[in-house]
Amino acid sequence: MTEQQQPSENSGGVPGILVIGFIVFFVVGFVALIFLVAVPQARKKTDITTLAEYPGLTNPELIAEKLNTSGCLSCHAPDIKIIGPTWEEISKRYEADPRRVNEVAINILNGGQGKWGEIPMPKQVQLTPEEAQDFAAYILQTYQKEQ
Ligand code: HEC
Repeated sequence: MTEQQQPSENSGGVPGILVIGFIVFFVVGFVALIFLVAVPQARKKTDITTLAEYPGLTNPELIAEKLNTSGCLSCHAPDIKIIGPTWEEISKRYEADPRRVNEVAINILNGGQGKWGEIPMPKQVQLTPEEAQDFAAYILQTYQKEQ
């Protein structure tokens, strides 16, 4: 009996170490994953406060196309209020003032609430600062003319 128990204890010891090894491996892996996912995410959530000077609108057609395929139109339209203000209202408020392109671009990137109502606009983390500046400039210039 003792001889039979001995090998079974030994063979139980090796998997025990393996199990601990796996647990350590997964815990370390999990912590690493959290850092890889959460840290860049947290950085993205930080509000942008300054942008480089906007060089000017160079390719309005391309920007119009991008604006129409960047998910903005589920909440915005040129002249019909959906969830957010219309492009016309926005352009009217900022009076197509090129000095305010960055102000509007920062508001696009950061999203926000309270400038137009209580419904919040989500952060647009998929946009680069340059894209946000192009969108802001395009909205302010294009829809101002049509009023
Ligand atoms: C989920 C709905 C939603 C989406 C998607 C969305 N917006 Fe908005 N947007 C809003 C709301 C709501 C407001 C008003 C926020 C406020 O009252 O401060 C707003 C405000 C704005 C403003 C006015 C900011 C200012 O300075 O007054 C601009 C410009 C704008 N959005 C552009 C965009 C662009 C460009 C996109 C796409 C890249 C976009 N939005 C996507 C809901 C949305």
